[in-house]
Amino acid sequence: MKTRSLLKIAIIFIVAVCVAGIGGLYAGTTVQDVIKMENKAYAKHKKSILEFSHKKHVEEYKAGCGECHHDENNKPLDNLKEGDDVQNCIECHSKPSMKPKGKGAKKLTKKEALEYHAEAIHQNCKGCHKDFNKKNKADKKKSAPTKCKECHPKKKK
Ligand code: HEC
Ligand code: HEC
Ligand code: HEC
Ligand code: HEC
Repeated sequence: MKTRSLLKIAIIFIVAVCVAGIGGLYAGTTVQDVIKMENKAYAKHKKSILEFSHKKHVEEYKAGCGECHHDENNKPLDNLKEGDDVQNCIECHSKPSMKPKGKGAKKLTKKEALEYHAEAIHQNCKGCHKDFNKKNKADKKKSAPTKCKECHPKKKK
């Protein structure tokens, strides 16, 4: 009797491990708690690389998935779950650089500007940070980075 229930437990355990293993194989994109924002599409980064606290943004700052992730029509993906397939920003905002600026640079429409990866990233991050800072003006301890040097503290060597 005793050995049989032990056997049963052993079988359940083995089945559970297999299911978890297969689940792992077929799961969608996983996300790291902290993402090193060093997109490989860039030939060279001019600025220092930022470590983006993905988990903190979701859990502590209570940012919804759809505030950053959207579909090909810019419809917010509010109902993303751990394990869903998530496309990288660069798959749609596909030009790996800042938008051209300065003398002689062509004036871009909003849509053209957003083709540049760094432009889309900056608009997303800074947009929310600016709103947050405006709302929390009175609280000196609360401040989200909006200046170049706060996110890119030094030039990349
Ligand atoms: C504050 C903005 C923000 C929020 C909120 C956010 N994400 Fe992300 N997420 C990102 C950025 C930026 C990346 C990196 C994408 C890239 O490298 O192109 C990312 C990457 C991911 C990836 C990995 C994609 C890959 O292929 O590497 C997954 C999965 C993901 N997020 C899921 C979620 C889910 C689920 C939620 C909601 C619970 C969520 N994210 C909330 C900004 C955010
Ligand atoms: C599946 C394609 C796709 C992916 C992936 C994608 N975007 Fe977009 N994004 C779009 C489209 C389309 C628009 C609308 C562009 C326009 O106005 O013509 C847009 C617009 C934006 C805007 C402007 C928002 C507004 O409404 O003014 C920002 C900022 C942005 N994306 C940032 C990001 C970031 C950051 C990521 C990655 C976390 C990302 N996008 C991933 C397709 C995508
Ligand atoms: C929907 C709102 C929102 C978006 C979008 C967002 N953030 Fe934030 N971020 C915050 C808030 C809120 C804080 C916390 C400010 C505080 O409490 O002082 C923060 C803080 C930070 C900090 C400093 C603290 C930390 O956790 O490291 C960094 C760096 C940062 N964000 C980077 C980014 C980057 C990079 C992006 C774009 C990929 C981004 N954020 C997009 C809301 C946002
Ligand atoms: C909220 C944080 C944040 C702020 C503020 C910010 N950046 Fe960025 N920047 C990023 C992130 C994240 C990327 C994407 C890097 C990647 O994915 O490879 C980026 C990309 C870039 C790139 C393209 C990659 C490279 O290194 O060549 C340039 C150039 C750049 N930023 C310059 C600036 C300048 C200039 C300012 C101020 C006007 C600024 N950034 C403000 C977070 C920030």
